[in-house]
Amino acid sequence: MIREAITSDLEKIYEMGTHLHANYRETTNLEKLLATGYFKLLVYQEKETIVGFLSYTELEDTIDIVDIYVEENYRRQHIASYLLDYMITNTKKTTKILLDVAVDNEPALKLYDKFGFNVIHTRQKYYEQTDAYVMERSTK
Ligand SMILES: CC(C)(COP(=O)(O)OP(=O)(O)OC[C@H]1O[C@@H](n2cnc3c(N)ncnc32)[C@H](O)[C@@H]1OP(=O)(O)O)[C@@H](O)C(=O)NCCC(=O)NCCS
Repeated sequence: MIREAITSDLEKIYEMGTHLHANYRETTNLEKLLATGYFKLLVYQEKETIVGFLSYTELEDTIDIVDIYVEENYRRQHIASYLLDYMITNTKKTTKILLDVAVDNEPALKLYDKFGFNVIHTRQKYYEQTDAYVMERSTK
């Protein structure tokens, strides 16, 4: 089941976020971000457990994907795809979607390629020594 995150989910999201960025807890204040109204946080719940999340911002005509993460034991079961589909389906206006991804992150590149994202720019050494692609698609 996919739903918007509630306060009691946040501890689990911080824990998952730490697998994405070691300093996630120190650099991310989810409570504050959610209060802005433009930061969105979707969770994928399997029985009683949250096994994945997608965070993004929605401002004017642009969605920026901030993070997407699925617990290792649950990968390749289309959970990330369901989260992206849910975000796209529930976006009210036609919008462009932007994201950054490390050039060596094969699973994520395959996922985004499958969703029709195109590389529009390369940011040099965006993740320490690793370059990042900026990718884009429309919600249409
Ligand atoms: C990237 C990530 C979110 C994908 O989650 P997922 O739920 O496993 O992805 P899905 O099952 O929806 O995959 C959809 C498609 O993407 C491609 N894909 C995903 N993972 C892949 C992998 N490891 N190898 C090859 N293709 C892959 C496949 O085409 C897949 O479709 P298929 O299984 O029908 O062939 C997950 O691997 C993850 O959490 N990685 C660590 C965090 C991360 O890198 N986030 C992205 C930062 S930009």
